[in-house]
Amino acid sequence: MAAARLFAGLMSGTSLDGVDAVLLELGAPAGASACSGSLRVLGHVQLPMPPALRAEFAALNHSSPDELHRAQLAGIELSRLYARALEQLLRAAGVAAADLSAVGAHGQTVRHRPELGYTLQLGAPAWLAEQCGITVVADFRSRDLAAGGQGAPLVPSFHRAVFGRDGADLAVLNLGGIANLSLLYADGRVLGFDTGPGNALLDLWAQRHLGRDFDADGAWGAGGAVLPELLERLLDDAYFRLLPPKSTGRDSFDARWLECRLRGFEAARARDVQATLARMVAVSVAAELQRHMPDVGELLVCGGGAGNLDLLRHMRELLPGCELLDTRSRGLAPQQVEAAAFAWLAARTLDGLPGNLPAVTGARGPRVLGAVYPA
Ligand SMILES: Nc1ncnc2c1ncn2[C@@H]1O[C@H](COP(=O)(O)OP(=O)(O)OP(=O)(O)O)[C@@H](O)[C@H]1O
Ligand SMILES: [Mg+2]
Repeated sequence: MAAARLFAGLMSGTSLDGVDAVLLELGAPAGASACSGSLRVLGHVQLPMPPALRAEFAALNHSSPDELHRAQLAGIELSRLYARALEQLLRAAGVAAADLSAVGAHGQTVRHRPELGYTLQLGAPAWLAEQCGITVVADFRSRDLAAGGQGAPLVPSFHRAVFGRDGADLAVLNLGGIANLSLLYADGRVLGFDTGPGNALLDLWAQRHLGRDFDADGAWGAGGAVLPELLERLLDDAYFRLLPPKSTGRDSFDARWLECRLRGFEAARARDVQATLARMVAVSVAAELQRHMPDVGELLVCGGGAGNLDLLRHMRELLPGCELLDTRSRGLAPQQVEAAAFAWLAARTLDGLPGNLPAVTGARGPRVLGAVYPA
């Protein structure tokens, strides 16, 4: 058997909460259908996004003055944060940089426009390679887009490799800023797509009314009442009705989207709006499951939203026949899954293996993803 190799994954998602850095040991070539036995997490570090950088990335989601210049500077700043996370990760694990095969660095998505053929992740991978002295794999999504795909989601192939098993349908839900589902069918088929907003709007509303980054455990929202008319208005968006392949981002589900839908509900209690937003996320996920995998018996949840107990309660209520667990039950902590996926995807790239699933993204075929910046 091939010797174990070490990879790191660096993920900063649409929630703009920070960076997750995960150290992954791959015991078999990444091409082998990895089971959890051949894949081990050796460390995990989370660094918060500095408020100024977070505000800049949020601003760069929309056109603004001098944005090319500002995008470059923000990318370099993010590479420094990535390098710091990586350094802490390696130090805590007692692993030398030279022992890593590569780092998969996702970058920060500031535009996602698959209908125009592009998506943009900032992150200055050349700077990261210089700072950490490790081969960096970045820009994972553009090749899939060039091949006619959505460039997203890319995690379903990883979800299948780690959580998939024969004999029963399984759904994996990542609750990041945007939420995405991987549907792993018993017969081997895989579907995957963004269901719509995950934490993004919940965070936005909590920041505005609680003055905190997010509604911890969903406790604030849990004390609110769902407003049926507002719920209907929130769910009245063409995205929810689209068939896959589909993907979305903060370009669509942002403060403007929410403000527009809250018109006429100015008198509503902020807490009730939070409860209604949580319900909207749960309904949008449950509707897709009922549409594409109606008999699924198990839903595995990952991403930071797995900590939102109110959101999970709504989903359990809407999916009575389905057991809802988080990925810890399958050996991977919810906040580690996305970063681990990009470590695994970096291994696929170095091994010359495709990372996308055409049935998921809609690309013309499997493609080796990413750009390599040698150590
Ligand atoms: N204890 C908690 N209670 C409620 N929400 C939580 C908790 N912990 C984390 N979160 C939510 O998770 C978010 C971060 O999740 P995560 O890092 O998975 O998302 P992300 O960065 O957008 O990733 P991606 O979009 O790539 O999936 C926070 O912004 C917050 O909304
Ligand atoms: Mg995050």
